Amino acid sequence: MSEGQESHGNIQEPDHIESSGEYDRYRDNPELLAETKLKTSRLFSFDWANGFVSPFRPTPRDILSNMLQHVHFSTPGKDTLLDLGCGDAVVLIQALETFPSSQLVRAIGVDLDKPLLETAKEGILQERKASATTNDEHDSILSRLELYHGDLTIKDESLTTILSPNELRGQCDRETTMRQLIDECSHIFVYLLPEALSKLAPLLLEAIEVTQKVVLSMRWEIPELAKYQVHGGVGQQYYVYDNKIPCVSLTEMEKNE
Ligand SMILES: C[S@@+](CC[C@H](N)C(=O)[O-])C[C@H]1O[C@@H](n2cnc3c(N)ncnc32)[C@H](O)[C@@H]1O
Repeated sequence: MSEGQESHGNIQEPDHIESSGEYDRYRDNPELLAETKLKTSRLFSFDWANGFVSPFRPTPRDILSNMLQHVHFSTPGKDTLLDLGCGDAVVLIQALETFPSSQLVRAIGVDLDKPLLETAKEGILQERKASATTNDEHDSILSRLELYHGDLTIKDESLTTILSPNELRGQCDRETTMRQLIDECSHIFVYLLPEALSKLAPLLLEAIEVTQKVVLSMRWEIPELAKYQVHGGVGQQYYVYDNKIPCVSLTEMEKNE
């Protein structure tokens, strides 16, 4: 591992996922570095002065497809997926393509990397324009997707809207904070470094136990949530945690997967 990689953490990828050199992104682009915020307002404190708790690495489509097969959006009109550190929004787009609006009402992403979000927004708008055959199809993704710039570790600071149905219609968005988004969502997706996950674990545990949310973790197990694991494992490279469906033993799960 190079020096640069070490200073920004390392997500060890499985052998079949090639390194794209994205780890140098923050070292080589000082403008991406966020100001250090007061630790008192953070959901958790983290040593990285630049605010990033994980480098950018998109979730592979095939792994996400497998994970989404175990996800149920079952509260019509309410279900919302929140990706904490959404990168280029691939997870949100794939979920919106997989689930109709009658099941998945909103897909929301927050990321600290503004240039990445802006590039993602351009790509999404172009792609949707090119692939949409009818306005309905076009709207079905864009009317449910929200992207915000901000620090996922800070609860009460206003997030900046990058893309939202209101923004596309030229209307004003209400002010949104991480606290509101976490309150409003039904499913939380995370693909962050294990150290960040362990700091987020109390919040995720509360989300599962108190507000009955489902937590989806790409690549990394969250040991603090182990008793709520209902799908996935090392072999699958994803973990689904849910308090609402009865837990099966790991051996049972491996037999069934
Ligand atoms: C491993 S990537 C995952 C991207 C996306 N969720 C996916 O699975 O395809 C982690 C993302 O977290 C973002 N990130 C890291 N620290 C953050 C912070 N403090 N607040 C918001 N986003 C952050 C990074 O910019 C990066 O895009």
